[in-house]
Amino acid sequence: MKILALCGGSPGGNTELALTAALRAAHKAEPSATITLIRLCELSVGTSNISGQLPHPFAAESNKVASSGPDDRPWVVNHIMEADAILLGAPVMSRVTHWLVKWFQDTTLGPYQDVHAARSMISMGKGDLVDQRIFKPRVAALLSLGGSLGSEWTTFGLPTLQQVFFPMAVKIVDQMEVYGAGLPGSVVLLDDQMARAEELGRNLAEQAAKSPEERTYVGASGLCPLCHLSIVVFTGGNKVDCGGCGAKGKAVLRDGSIALEFDQEGLDVSVLSPQGLVIHGKEIMATGGRLRKIMDQVPAKKDPLVQLSSEWLASPER
Ligand SMILES: Cc1cc2nc3c(=O)[nH]c(=O)nc-3n(C[C@H](O)[C@H](O)[C@H](O)COP(=O)(O)O)c2cc1C
Repeated sequence: MKILALCGGSPGGNTELALTAALRAAHKAEPSATITLIRLCELSVGTSNISGQLPHPFAAESNKVASSGPDDRPWVVNHIMEADAILLGAPVMSRVTHWLVKWFQDTTLGPYQDVHAARSMISMGKGDLVDQRIFKPRVAALLSLGGSLGSEWTTFGLPTLQQVFFPMAVKIVDQMEVYGAGLPGSVVLLDDQMARAEELGRNLAEQAAKSPEERTYVGASGLCPLCHLSIVVFTGGNKVDCGGCGAKGKAVLRDGSIALEFDQEGLDVSVLSPQGLVIHGKEIMATGGRLRKIMDQVPAKKDPLVQLSSEWLASPER
């Protein structure tokens, strides 16, 4: 078994310490496992799109980034493709997951590592661009860490981490939030939370050791039966979208408390359901098809805006 931890915190910081405790427990549960820890802050992303090794489905020209350094994405993607179990952890900054995670996700994962896109590539006869290891069933566990004591300052921690591996259909088996890690290195003093981090690592290893059919979510239950979070968007009346995974349902009052009810149709649009990825793939293709027919109208509407932005643009002098 290969267990990979990806850390969005600072080198030797609280997140890395909590992840390392989780990895130590995972290793104890599965002593033959190979353990690897990667710091996202040590990665460099090159200037061009990565091609060949990765499926380049629908948005190949949109992940250009400004960097003149080396490109570590093939290296880190290889680690991800090799992994059976992934532990992803990051600190919360201003209520949201640290930007490094989002940067890594948007330059390296997302549509570029998407099982539905990979299947579409194969059906289009472009299977040579698909890394077949993308189809390996994997599990993940999530750790979001903050200095605050309450959920009001960590709201978008776990929901953001939830988005990182769903295109690869990675099954999340546990997730946790660490509160009160307010000073550098202080997380090691929080005995209960370090014990929970160890449980997180153990759960990850134990679930990874099971067959894909037997693997199950063992973390705390939330209002959503798919992502197990309780972040809810009211979309009109009692209709709701799950803020964690997009499942559609309705809010009901049950024994004096709000509960959410989802039917199969509502669960199918979740990004965590295989149908959800298929529906989104069709949506992207349909949108592209519709827009391509009228793209000749773009210059007349775009050019005046380009003219204005070039008049108003201020760039730093170097
Ligand atoms: C700019 C900044 C913003 C922060 N915002 C939050 C926050 O909104 N909620 C919270 O719980 N902790 C917040 N923190 C605390 C960090 O999550 C905490 O210091 C954490 O240990 C940093 O992670 P690291 O030690 O793994 O690098 C913030 C810290 C910084 C520096």
